[in-house]
Amino acid sequence: MRTPIIAGNWKMNNTIKEALGLIEEIKASKLNKDVEAVVCVPFICLSEAKKALENTEIKLGAQNMHWEESGAFTGEISPKMLKELGVDYVIIGHSERRQYFNETDETVNKKIKSSLNHGLKPIVCVGETLDEREANIEKDVVKKQIEKAFEGIEEKDLDNIVIAYEPIWAIGTGKTASSDDANNMLAFIRETIGNKYEEKKNDIRIQYGGSVKPSNIKELMDKEEIDGALVGGASLVAKDFVDLINF
Ligand code: 13P
Repeated sequence: MRTPIIAGNWKMNNTIKEALGLIEEIKASKLNKDVEAVVCVPFICLSEAKKALENTEIKLGAQNMHWEESGAFTGEISPKMLKELGVDYVIIGHSERRQYFNETDETVNKKIKSSLNHGLKPIVCVGETLDEREANIEKDVVKKQIEKAFEGIEEKDLDNIVIAYEPIWAIGTGKTASSDDANNMLAFIRETIGNKYEEKKNDIRIQYGGSVKPSNIKELMDKEEIDGALVGGASLVAKDFVDLINF
């Protein structure tokens, strides 16, 4: 049985004060204990968020990291720093990082390896653009992203990796992939993983992301392959995020 995982990606939203307010609201609500809930907050909020989440089941995530442990990389944050703060998860290769900050399949691969080496659990993002989907090459694109991301990753590490399929055209646009399309792509991702790691094929958790909200979560989660959601906009509203966790 794969434990469902609902992760909020706050992106570049919320000051520390706002973050604490949102966390307090989430904490005050009754949450389904059978669902793993994660909040991926801006770097500057991690320390305070960690304290606020003490004695709760909610996990803490970062949204990016550098692959090196330390060094002359102005403005970057290392896995060692995240670990010291008590971070559980780190989003790697989000499409916004690929699109605006030159993240490549190679850097994604380095970051996944480094996060695992530091005891952090990567949420590895893949997904195609609208042009790629319209050209019917979405599966080729995602297959290549998965194969590159997992280069040199050992089978035992798969227990600590989550994959998030986020079609870029569905992010922040209000357009959700249909639950059938999402399920279909997740099945394909699982097959691709299975080609390399047969034993782990049915264990690895795969999320869908892209305009997930309380009105569509149930239909998505009812699908066999969908193990959770990576949520942007709706994770910024306490009631919506709580409704997602309690789908
Ligand atoms: P939205 O839920 O706002 O579409 O964002 C999805 C996303 O990018 C989560 O990482």
